[in-house]
Amino acid sequence: MKERLVKLQAEALSALQQSQDLKALQDVRVSILGKKGALTDIMKGMRELSAEERPAIGNLVNSLKDQFEAAFALRQSELQQKAIADKLAQENIDVTLPGRTVVPGNLHPVTLVSDEIVDIFSRLGFSVAEGPEIEQDFYNFEALNIPKDHPARDMQDTFYISDDLVLRTHTSPVQIRTMLQHQPPIRVIAPGTVYRRDSDLTHSPMFHQIEGFLVDERVTFGDLKGILTHFLKEFFGDRLEVRFRPSFFPFTEPSAEVDIACVICGGQGCRVCSGNGWLEILGCGMIDPAVFDAVNYDAEQYSGFAFGMGLERIAMLKYGVNDLRLFFENDLRFLKQF
Ligand code: DAH
Repeated sequence: MKERLVKLQAEALSALQQSQDLKALQDVRVSILGKKGALTDIMKGMRELSAEERPAIGNLVNSLKDQFEAAFALRQSELQQKAIADKLAQENIDVTLPGRTVVPGNLHPVTLVSDEIVDIFSRLGFSVAEGPEIEQDFYNFEALNIPKDHPARDMQDTFYISDDLVLRTHTSPVQIRTMLQHQPPIRVIAPGTVYRRDSDLTHSPMFHQIEGFLVDERVTFGDLKGILTHFLKEFFGDRLEVRFRPSFFPFTEPSAEVDIACVICGGQGCRVCSGNGWLEILGCGMIDPAVFDAVNYDAEQYSGFAFGMGLERIAMLKYGVNDLRLFFENDLRFLKQF
């Protein structure tokens, strides 16, 4: 019995040492102290010992049990430390790695140009107005002195929704809406989406314009020239050359188109300016008395000027973009550059 105990002691302690994880360690414990464990078995057999043998063997059994428990506790705490250390090693974070960057979005080039123009006119006391993209014939045409038989109304150019409703072909109807709601003096800038039945390299059926107008007493063509020249120099740079050319629009009289010296070649003549050194940039004029009549303004008391321009065209010139379609394809490689 004594030898059996000594042997068991050696075996049990070495089994504890050899356990590599907490589960194996627990298994060793069960194999020694469990219901069917080796030591339990020995303790059961003690009944058969003589009264003289029993105390000595009993002592041995108890000391083996104590030793085993102590060794078990030690190994258990070793293995627990090891488990924590392993887990830490696995979940190890390299704090020197670069973080995952969030790529911020940016505004569309047409929005950027619109915002900048609005900004320049805001500093001149203009406020922003808007109108609907589905517009009544009256605002889009009639009140702007574009009568029923005017070529601008041609089915070729206008998207008709019904006899009386169109997708607005320009931002000029915002003039009418504003003047019907407010009395002079007014200074308004109106960016927006417009639609025309046109689609090729330089035309898109949906594009953007910005409209501006000012009405007060004694407004002259000199005011128009001064403000538009100031705007163009703010936008394209101080040394920009500007020229006003007589033109025609039904809602202005007199009317003009404004050219700037080609921003690509500086006026030498290139492909972008068709070799003549100038780029047409906006339409403008003194508001026609017929328009004042339509909104019940007294054309004797008030005068004003108006202007309109295409935002895509301006964005193309400002950023050197040579294909209009790029603005609407939403290719991030293009859009990210602004
Ligand atoms: N509405 C014109 C167009 O779409 C642009 C324009 C020209 C607007 C002259 C104006 C203006 O206000 O005075 O082509």
